[in-house]
Amino acid sequence: MAESVAETASESAAKRLVVLVSGSGTNLQALLDAIAETGPAYGAEVVAVGADRDGIEGLARAERAGLPTFVCRVKDYDSRESWDAALTEAVAAYEPDLVVSAGFMKIVGKEFLARFGGRFVNTHPALLPSFPGAHGVRDALAYGAKVTGCTVHFVDDGVDTGPIIAQGVVEVRDEDDESALHERIKEVERRLLVEVVGRLARNGYRIEGRKVVIQ
Ligand code: GAR
Repeated sequence: MAESVAETASESAAKRLVVLVSGSGTNLQALLDAIAETGPAYGAEVVAVGADRDGIEGLARAERAGLPTFVCRVKDYDSRESWDAALTEAVAAYEPDLVVSAGFMKIVGKEFLARFGGRFVNTHPALLPSFPGAHGVRDALAYGAKVTGCTVHFVDDGVDTGPIIAQGVVEVRDEDDESALHERIKEVERRLLVEVVGRLARNGYRIEGRKVVIQ
């Protein structure tokens, strides 16, 4: 799958991104802003935004940008597998080159990974492999870590275990609570995600075991 991006790296057409969100969507917004500011030189465009719930700011941001949106809620399906199949079809309909999980708080299943493995990028608010899961910021703080940060990585069938593309470091301050620390992480995270997605799209990449090489 990675080769499909690499092989077409010399073509000028923007790579197609589907972005998945569950919340405020500030990482999505950073991508939209970078694409608007940089134009075709960025190398990618967002073609649709998907979510696992209604009524979130992430979807509102997509709608304001005039982008198609879709929602796949687990509770609307009779099994996790049928939800995964529906999400896979909804994303596939937009023929993405890369799928970006930008605060998407669901673990995808086998079908999704079979279709998008090697081109499904996640951003996580901790320095993996430390503090995986849904509470990366809270867990780093509770552990007493002095530095934490964010990790942009490819998704595999574990929880935040896939090959790391890039990381950003943030110092933990004595006075930090989860919200203050998360906000400082997100400032670094948004810049990192914009940089990484652009480089993947423009240059192509290959995944060699755990190592990601951007051409
Ligand atoms: C980001 O910090 C992202 O790393 C985190 O959710 C936030 C979404 O912010 N994701 C996870 O914790 C996934 N385990 P946003 O909605 O403002 O982009």
